[in-house]
Amino acid sequence: MMLRKRVLVTGGAGFLGSHLCERLLADGNDVICLDNFFTGTKDNVAPLLGDPHFELMRHDVTFPLYVEVDEIYNLACPASPIHYQHDPVQTTKTSVHGAINMLGLAKRLRAKVFQASTSEVYGDPDVHPQPESYRGYVNPIGPRACYDEGKRCAETLFFDYFRQHRLRIRVARIFNTYGPRMHPNDGRVVSNFVVQALQNKPLTIYGDGSQTRSFCYVDDLIEGFVRLMAAPDAVTGPVNLGNPAEFTIRQLAEMAVAMTGSKSKLEFRPLPEDDPKQRRPDIAIAGKELGWKPTVKLEDGLRKTIAYFDEFLRRTS
Ligand SMILES: NC(=O)c1ccc[n+]([C@@H]2O[C@H](COP(=O)([O-])OP(=O)(O)OC[C@H]3O[C@@H](n4cnc5c(N)ncnc54)[C@H](O)[C@@H]3O)[C@@H](O)[C@H]2O)c1
Repeated sequence: MMLRKRVLVTGGAGFLGSHLCERLLADGNDVICLDNFFTGTKDNVAPLLGDPHFELMRHDVTFPLYVEVDEIYNLACPASPIHYQHDPVQTTKTSVHGAINMLGLAKRLRAKVFQASTSEVYGDPDVHPQPESYRGYVNPIGPRACYDEGKRCAETLFFDYFRQHRLRIRVARIFNTYGPRMHPNDGRVVSNFVVQALQNKPLTIYGDGSQTRSFCYVDDLIEGFVRLMAAPDAVTGPVNLGNPAEFTIRQLAEMAVAMTGSKSKLEFRPLPEDDPKQRRPDIAIAGKELGWKPTVKLEDGLRKTIAYFDEFLRRTS
């Protein structure tokens, strides 16, 4: 008989975490979803609560945790500038103390441990697209530093535990991901545009809209997570996971308006400090080591995201 794996997902009630919990349950695992509900909600995992193999736990990763599991996915951390700048000291603590606590737990259990790192470790890149070997161009004292440097320090800790304690680690550098269950008001560009378009409000573009981003649909990203965790232990990462198809912010705004049949106009505002001008992953390593590449086209992912927000706005208005 195959024993079920026991998997801990920190930040499991958030956008990505809730999709990951769903996928891990569907794959036949026992899942502990841990969250302090700072940006995540019970609603995100409500459909999973009746599953006897799912457990929801309120806990803050900055405090030690004692549970028995085989694998840990460490996703706990507010991910949007509005949320991570709300309490920057807590953001750094969540990344750094959270990593220390999850690595300590993994060391005690000899469990595999996965870190949700970010393309923000590259800062405002002067290399384009960014391969994993690029060391980044980050402002250590700016308003985004609590997130960028917190995540960089977490990566350092992961690799020190790997070298010093032979821990089995996996580090994914996640690029912009979108899909159902994103926060409606957290300032991230896809949710912003879709919600504004559905409400026929002006779409706010920071700068002239010529800055580019790449957008990965959530199902593609979660497939990458699961493949990385299942890869041989020599595949520690860091591995970029994201969609290399590049769009300008203006193009995305125009798609959101067209696909919702909205009457919204585009409204231009000044660019915030440290906002990267270009961001696109080099995913050659993910292709080679994991046989992974994104498959969902922006138009198809946007359609599902629009359907989610349309239902969400009707339910909550
Ligand atoms: N979505 C993206 O495009 C993206 C890109 C790069 C990296 N990431 C990373 O992926 C992870 C998940 O991001 P997301 O988009 O799902 O964001 P999210 O805000 O929806 O999820 C983060 C979750 O962590 C929880 N959390 C925050 N602080 C915590 C703490 N101290 N203890 C326990 N739980 C805590 C929140 O309540 C939330 O449920 C984050 O680590 C983020 O940095 C996401």
